[in-house]
Amino acid sequence: MKNAKKQPLILKSGRCGALRGEVSVSGDKSISHRAVMLGSIAHGETLISGLLEGEDVLSTMAALRALGVEIAKEEGVWKVQGVGLDGLKESRAVLDMGNSGTSARLLMGLLGARPFTSHFTGDASLCRRPMGRVITPLMQMGVEFSSTEGNRLPLEVKGPAQAKAIDYALPVASAQVKSAVLFGGLSAQGTTRVIERIPTRDHSERMLCHFGADLHIQQEDGAEIISIRGGTALTGQKIDVPADISSAAFPMVAACLHEGSEVRLNHVGMNERRVGIVQSLIDMGASIEIINPRDVCGEPVADLVVRGGKLKGVTIPASRAPSMIDEYPVLAVAAACGEGTSRFLGLSELRVKESDRLTLMAQGLRAVGASVEVRGDDLIIHGTGMPPRGGALIKTALDHRIAMSF
Ligand code: S3P
Repeated sequence: MKNAKKQPLILKSGRCGALRGEVSVSGDKSISHRAVMLGSIAHGETLISGLLEGEDVLSTMAALRALGVEIAKEEGVWKVQGVGLDGLKESRAVLDMGNSGTSARLLMGLLGARPFTSHFTGDASLCRRPMGRVITPLMQMGVEFSSTEGNRLPLEVKGPAQAKAIDYALPVASAQVKSAVLFGGLSAQGTTRVIERIPTRDHSERMLCHFGADLHIQQEDGAEIISIRGGTALTGQKIDVPADISSAAFPMVAACLHEGSEVRLNHVGMNERRVGIVQSLIDMGASIEIINPRDVCGEPVADLVVRGGKLKGVTIPASRAPSMIDEYPVLAVAAACGEGTSRFLGLSELRVKESDRLTLMAQGLRAVGASVEVRGDDLIIHGTGMPPRGGALIKTALDHRIAMSF
């Protein structure tokens, strides 16, 4: 029911035995957003299979429909009738991003560079999240922003008659910021360059190439420079969205924690900038077999077989954070059940997700009896080799990844 105040559900979870079987994991959220967005601004039809139909992606779809794009599902395949960048029309309705930071930030880049005004809003959690990180570079491109809430939603975003190409060195390791600038760059005159020192997920770059954008990547002084030339028309494509490794992480951890488990996960996205969770679980002693690695629409994909056993403590360097940023909550659960101390270093970005995930994980783990410390932006978990006692009510702040982890 739209606009009805959501009542929190109380879900109960308890111990189970060994897990055996195959899990079919839903489509990758990051890739789904990008497929709908690029399909909308391409010329011709884009066919998407495996699309994630969660609320976040539906928010992206609703916004693009409000801008004049036809999107419909037929026989399991989503069909996006691309209108070309010039075909997007100003929306009279406010664009409601719901809970989705990816929709908000990427669409601000895509629409902000168009010569019309858009109004963005979101739910209470999204309206608290920082938008200055995309506003700063987009203003350099000529986009104007106004808000009564500082650099937060709700925001009015007014595009210039002609967006300017910029060179932008990312001050935070954020794929959303990188993508916002690249998507804005599609409308700019000339070549926009993004300089990335810490690698973040590159789904936008891969998919832009797949749709025929004029995009090049070069390495310089240890940084990656991504260049995109504005004004090149994209062409509709077929996209097969792989399973989301961030969602696969939940059954993976569950299987790892139960001796005798054997769980198969098929068609999982294995983009090397997303697989920090696999590396971390292997470092903790997990058995994860990677089968039949292949390329699907420009993205690496594989099947995984996860076998249960004992996990041990691990230190995860801050440099690995971008490749597993959404998986820390569930890995914290693994660490609490494993034996020995785990240290997750440099988690400042976890504080600005759908909730302050660093604080909520520490609180929840303590509530179920685990021994946890937060030192600055580091999370330290002292595992006993046994599952914590449980028996607590966990505060999730409506954050799905906190709920699913516990
Ligand atoms: C995303 C990037 C990450 C991630 C989010 C999805 C994306 O955010 O946490 O769930 O699709 O680009 P940041 O770019 O803020 O790190």
